Amino acid sequence: MYDFDSPAPRAGSGAIKWDIRGSAFGNADALPFWVADSDYMSPPEVTEALADAAKRCVFGYTSPTQGYKNAVAEWIRARHGWEIDTGWIVPSTGIVSELSNIVRCFTKKGDKVLIQAPVYDPFAGVVKTAGRKLVKNMLIRGDGLRYTMNFEDLDHKLSEGVKLMILCSPHNPVGRVWREEEVMTVARLCQKHGVILVSDEIHWDIVMPGNSHFTAGRAGTPDNLIVLTAPSKTFNIAGLKCSNDIIPGKDLRERLVEWKGKRHMEGPNNLGVIACEAAYTHGAKWCDEQNEYLAGSAALVREAFASHLPQIGVAPLEGTYLMWLDISETGLDSRPLCEKLAKAGAILNDGWRYGDDGFVRLNIACPRAQLEAGLAVIVKVLGEVLGK
Ligand SMILES: Cc1ncc(COP(=O)(O)O)c(C=O)c1O
Repeated sequence: MYDFDSPAPRAGSGAIKWDIRGSAFGNADALPFWVADSDYMSPPEVTEALADAAKRCVFGYTSPTQGYKNAVAEWIRARHGWEIDTGWIVPSTGIVSELSNIVRCFTKKGDKVLIQAPVYDPFAGVVKTAGRKLVKNMLIRGDGLRYTMNFEDLDHKLSEGVKLMILCSPHNPVGRVWREEEVMTVARLCQKHGVILVSDEIHWDIVMPGNSHFTAGRAGTPDNLIVLTAPSKTFNIAGLKCSNDIIPGKDLRERLVEWKGKRHMEGPNNLGVIACEAAYTHGAKWCDEQNEYLAGSAALVREAFASHLPQIGVAPLEGTYLMWLDISETGLDSRPLCEKLAKAGAILNDGWRYGDDGFVRLNIACPRAQLEAGLAVIVKVLGEVLGK
């Protein structure tokens, strides 16, 4: 069994989540449940591969090897049931910067780009800063806070000149793992309207028991599809700057590679490549155990609210390690509420940034003891606000 209970020594390491608590939230001692990375150690297989690389003392210019690409393809085949050609892999240095490249490469100023809100805030950011027009297809908040897609509205909006759609799958922050029919419908609608579908699947390995991720790669619409993947969330190596675009269509792939080449965009960091190959080669068991650990943590969160504060709704966590909490009964918006929480000792993300001020986001990828300590603060503060 791997160890998820021992905390990683992050404070003072430059970790954004830990080291800007004082400057960003006014409480340098608050427990952090915000930035989407993990507070336990990366898999030993990954750190050993990095240590071996350090011992070799060779750090010159490199590019991802065929062995690396085989490891990426094998992970995708074994985990996600998608047989890819290694020639479809376009290594990149991170998903957000790649999204920005993709938006700029395939659309022009003023073109419409569609996202489904609420959603991870940089989606809107990359569209707006590129001078493209943001179109929103709002998710439907269903019974028990399980979100679904509004396909009628999606069909209509895509028909009105949208050039590119960014799908978040699994979804940050609402926690959905989209079912096969949902992904197929999105892919078919994009194909029907000639829209490029960019599916951000960075969270695709983090799936709770009883759920199964269906990659857009299997939807049968390869010519207008870009799937963005990374080992960064799964194995807690976001700082190593390595991700992979999977682009089956020759035309889209060549256009993007040429676009980036002309702008002198470099490939991923060599140590990131080494970590990614080791993670995809040796990390399956660690990944499964992490999912079980996270499922146990999610159950703890649900129980804490059900028994102490049933007024706080908890969206079912199907995938990701990010829990979406309905705080609308408190009568406070998410930003002032998050300020109160930070002052009292727990830093969460306000829902406002994702497009819903009645929610906050809780990152549970940490040792159980840290989560328990944080929950005690959260339950106390929310209880006071609710007058309990
Ligand atoms: C949906 C989604 N995409 C992208 C990212 C960030 O990816 P990167 O660090 O590779 O830019 C995150 C991080 O939280 C995310 O949740």
